[in-house]
Amino acid sequence: MKILVTGGTGYIGSHTVLSLQEAGHDVVVIDNLVNSSEESLRRVAELSGKTAEFHQVNLVDEAAIDKVFAGAAIEAVIHFAGLKAVGESVRKPLKYYYNNLVGTLNLIRVMDRHDVRSIVFSSSATVYGEHNPIPYVEKMEIGANNPYGRTKEQIEDILSDLGAADPRWHIALLRYFNPVGAHPSGRIGEDPQGIPNNLVPFIAQVAVGRREKLMVFGGDYDTPDGTCLRDYIHVMDLAEGHAAALHYLQGHDGVHRWNLGSGHGTSVLQMHAAFEKAVGSPIPYEIAPRRAGDLPAFWADPSAALADLGWSTTRTVEAMCEDHWRWQKNNPLGYAHSPEAGEEPQARPSMSPHLAPYRIDVTAGDPPSLEHALNRAVEAAIAQALMEGTRGVLVTRRSPRTYTVELSRSVPFGTTLERDESVQGR
Ligand code: NAD
Ligand code: UFG
Repeated sequence: MKILVTGGTGYIGSHTVLSLQEAGHDVVVIDNLVNSSEESLRRVAELSGKTAEFHQVNLVDEAAIDKVFAGAAIEAVIHFAGLKAVGESVRKPLKYYYNNLVGTLNLIRVMDRHDVRSIVFSSSATVYGEHNPIPYVEKMEIGANNPYGRTKEQIEDILSDLGAADPRWHIALLRYFNPVGAHPSGRIGEDPQGIPNNLVPFIAQVAVGRREKLMVFGGDYDTPDGTCLRDYIHVMDLAEGHAAALHYLQGHDGVHRWNLGSGHGTSVLQMHAAFEKAVGSPIPYEIAPRRAGDLPAFWADPSAALADLGWSTTRTVEAMCEDHWRWQKNNPLGYAHSPEAGEEPQARPSMSPHLAPYRIDVTAGDPPSLEHALNRAVEAAIAQALMEGTRGVLVTRRSPRTYTVELSRSVPFGTTLERDESVQGR
């Protein structure tokens, strides 16, 4: 089949493109690269031996989507493209409603015009809201409690109305739980911009030395170890769920909803311990106050996906952490610093031109050795410099076993700074 994947350069999208290509499908990708890099597709091609046709198109541009459909005999669509940061959606609801809703409306209008009426949509467990009992079952009333979640719910409503009105449509609404992990090659993975919002990317950046320690948001929940429980799902299991849903749609019209989760809750501290095991060394953490809006525990009832699609998760939490760590360790700066992407690492275009003050104090214990601690700190500072679009790094020896690593703005990479140019505090 020829499948259009929107958001195909992103985290879940890139893994799904690989899975589809490995299953023999031809893939066309649309993405505007607002939260991703085309480098992911280059690596997918390297793994699959097939090149996906790529169009840098913003879904709010209906004419541009039309052109892609006019030039390719697309048979089905997997629609990942969307903005996904819950906190940002609360601060900038218009941005989220415009991007996610208008983008989807344009896409399905174009599909309809071109007689392409099979779509798999990326929904989220967040649509279950705050009041449903766990585990979540597809037939429950939904009601998201933030603008991001409401865009998912509203798109589910739009697609449901469309499916009810026109039996030619074949629609799958996939409610993802907590996707983590990476392809086992370590070549593709999640590459969050700025400070990661999500647990596993944050732990991974602590482990690689880009962040000082994990803040565990809340240690006093009514759960076995006091931290929140979530249903983590390996991104490759999730990718395979899309192929299964697409296959099902070929024989079934109408609207179908499936949870894609494992059916098990794992706590923040269990996840942290599993990641430490994958890394093979301690990862510092601290119990911090609860994060607003977090639910104590939720997980999926995944039995409908098993019954209808013959799909269930096969990869363990250990595999999620090992694969995520392989990706992070091999690509400490994500896709930004890749020889294929050019000699000089590029600052991302959407980064603020202003430098966030950054300073790490390194005091080596034993273990790790001073050299190890210093290496990690310098690596973290450089990573931060690249993320923030800056170039200057200053390492000062404070005592025989204590160093300070600081960043400065607007000087060539590697330049030694004057002390008063250094940026203090964080
Ligand atoms: P991602 O940000 O890595 O991928 C989304 C992609 O969509 C990005 O490549 C981005 O550049 C692109 N995009 C955004 N707006 C666009 C537009 N207007 N036009 C074209 N491209 C656009 O995110 P992801 O984690 O891969 O998530 C994929 C989908 O799954 C999203 O819809 C997300 O809401 C949903 N989802 C993700 C999670 C999660 O925890 N990762 C959980 C539930 C649901
Ligand atoms: N957490 C920490 N420290 C961190 C980050 C997260 O302790 O630095 C905790 C959170 O408090 C929560 C758990 O780790 O208890 C998981 O948090 P995530 O942010 O990784 O995941 P959420 O379950 O909060 O949110 C995810 C997606 C949302 C989606 C939601 C429901 O990020 O987009 O699942 O599907 F809406």
